[in-house]
Amino acid sequence: MSLPMSILDIDDLSVEQFNEVLRFARLAKFDPVLAGKSVALYFEKPSARTRNSAEVAIRALGGGVTTISDTEVGLGVRESVSDVGRTLGCYHDLIGARVKNHSVLEELKSVSHLSGVGVINLLSDFSHPTQAVADVITITDSISANPKSGRTKVVYVGDSNNVTRSLAKACSYADFDTVIASPEGYNFSEEELAALRIGSGSVEWVADLKMACEGADFIYTDVWVSMGQEAEGARKLVDLEPYRVTADLMALGSDRVKFMHCLPAHRGLEVEATVIDGESSLVWQQARARMTAFVGILGLMFGGLGEG
Ligand code: CP
Ligand code: NVA
Repeated sequence: MSLPMSILDIDDLSVEQFNEVLRFARLAKFDPVLAGKSVALYFEKPSARTRNSAEVAIRALGGGVTTISDTEVGLGVRESVSDVGRTLGCYHDLIGARVKNHSVLEELKSVSHLSGVGVINLLSDFSHPTQAVADVITITDSISANPKSGRTKVVYVGDSNNVTRSLAKACSYADFDTVIASPEGYNFSEEELAALRIGSGSVEWVADLKMACEGADFIYTDVWVSMGQEAEGARKLVDLEPYRVTADLMALGSDRVKFMHCLPAHRGLEVEATVIDGESSLVWQQARARMTAFVGILGLMFGGLGEG
């Protein structure tokens, strides 16, 4: 099974391709499928986990990697997006990009037939698919370590954002039920929610935080102010204050409830320190799974790792 040239969000994969990525990630075989190949990683925003896990995964698969910051390229300023895409295609076999505006990814994708290279979204204002693959790996590993019967309930608390969108789609493909608990005004529209229901897992929104967290197996949160939203920061900090993940909130979950956060985190804002640094926290498993996820995606994209 092959993957599409470009992955801008989870639903650029079919459910079969998504499951195959998970299977490849689990194999964790570092065959040199990227030998003689090169990947350009372009960042318009800071990154610790995504940049490092992608670079290490590419090297582990035998590939070369060039990481570029926006000031070095001047995408859309010094040169048009399509010209940069075509230029990178002269030297590289894939572009990974973290951008302020999702439309830049769409534009890079739209010239892929000319540049000869696809684009993987390393986070945009709209979505964060490689994080979501890692999160489903983390959830699945957690369930495998402590098997359960019945459905799995994932509750996302806080701002409905790029991470929420990809997480909900990935959970829907993985047959986990997602409840998004956000205040009015920070929720997805009915139309947006419908677009997240891409698999057999349900996706719902409620404003009632406590109701949402009752019986949760996983409680996930992200920053209240995403990169690029600094101008709205003061208002968001006030409006989202009641949506902090606290030990009391975690106590409403199931007897196996775990805490998740994509990081970077702000202790005392979206999550209490005792929760993120406590025994139920999976945040370091999530960070580790970022590399596993890249190995799965790149391994499958560049021809497969073979069986077993
Ligand atoms: N979770 C995540 O994407 O982290 P970075 O912003 O550090 O890459
Ligand atoms: N929602 C956050 C995620 C960071 C990994 C942001 O976009 O800044």
